[in-house]
Amino acid sequence: MKSPDCGKGALRATLTRRLQGLRPRPSALFVVLDPGATEVAERAVRLAAKDAGMAATLLRGPHGESRKTLASAEKLAGKLIRKGLDRRAFVLAVGGGVCTDVTGFVAASIMRGVRWGVVPTTLLAMVDAAVGGKTAVNLEEGKNLFGAFHFPSFLIIDTNLLRTLPAREWRSGRGELIKTAMLSGGAMWRSLCSASSGSLARRSDALTTLVHKAARYKAKVVAQDPQDNEERKLLNLGHTFGHALETAMGPRRLRHGEAVALGVLCAVKVAVENELAPASTEADMRLLFARHDLPTELKGPLPNATTLRRLLSRDKKADDGLLQLVVPLRPGEVVLVKGVAVQDAVDVLRRTLS
Ligand SMILES: NC(=O)c1ccc[n+]([C@@H]2O[C@H](COP(=O)([O-])OP(=O)(O)OC[C@H]3O[C@@H](n4cnc5c(N)ncnc54)[C@H](O)[C@@H]3O)[C@@H](O)[C@H]2O)c1
Ligand SMILES: [Zn+2]
Repeated sequence: MKSPDCGKGALRATLTRRLQGLRPRPSALFVVLDPGATEVAERAVRLAAKDAGMAATLLRGPHGESRKTLASAEKLAGKLIRKGLDRRAFVLAVGGGVCTDVTGFVAASIMRGVRWGVVPTTLLAMVDAAVGGKTAVNLEEGKNLFGAFHFPSFLIIDTNLLRTLPAREWRSGRGELIKTAMLSGGAMWRSLCSASSGSLARRSDALTTLVHKAARYKAKVVAQDPQDNEERKLLNLGHTFGHALETAMGPRRLRHGEAVALGVLCAVKVAVENELAPASTEADMRLLFARHDLPTELKGPLPNATTLRRLLSRDKKADDGLLQLVVPLRPGEVVLVKGVAVQDAVDVLRRTLS
């Protein structure tokens, strides 16, 4: 996993070079654009491709969690084939996590795999979804259950693209950013804790620095364990609980990063109740999330226990029906606790969120 190019204006500054650096030279360039991504991104991609001496074919990609389906992947694959994609073509995904996950999955599968690159346009995709080569679509049975590892040739993070991001998406991304800061600890954690919500404005250098640190941190962990066997599992802090809540509540009521924030609170609860972390950690985390406008409780009742049990047991990290939970001991230190009964996890959700 290569380290990302990151900065304000990074797209225009580096895409040409990245395209020119591809060996062998691609036969064609297909750009799959998130309809929500700005004209700014589209213009920068067109100019960069022209400077690299490549004609870009632009296609509209999927956006929104309900479109993260096999049907969307099939539709996109069909369009690419009809537009002349061959095995030496290069696919560039420009968008939020849904667009990059689906496009990456198509790139992994089409003609048994073509090269691809990623330009995330949401905060969440910049710090998480677009980093690490995991691609997938959802099945009715659960999120991200159908996919492949397919590492991109490059990742370009341009924080200027965040200017048009709706408030809800902006907040959701901060959930993942805080999760990553907690995992990384050190300077990243300290700068996040000392930042007020206002000082992390979209245009701020402080935000660009944090985004770069988060993406680099994830890329480093992934490089140590690309196939998700050990260290990489620790990146899933808050996700066992978070995914169950997200699926049960639906994306309208709970965005991914919001669900992750609630999931982190549940993981902190496990740590505190097992005396693995000081009791004050829970209140501190609630304050931090609240300061960044993230939820610390559910609006409305907790989904019923049967639904939660069903969703939790589908977690990809479940082993013999028992869960593996990532539990934070302190910023920068987490452990993987194995053999957790599903019912115990449901009880933690109830004690934390209702
Ligand atoms: N592959 C991974 O490792 C990984 C990791 C974390 C999350 N994910 C996945 O990422 C997805 C969530 O991604 P997301 O939060 O980016 O959601 P999303 O892709 O649904 O994007 C949210 C909305 O923002 C719009 N948008 C995108 N860029 C914009 C911009 N610059 N300005 C204005 N609007 C813009 C999109 O069109 C969409 O409507 C989930 O499906 C999650 O499972 C994947
Ligand atoms: Zn996530």
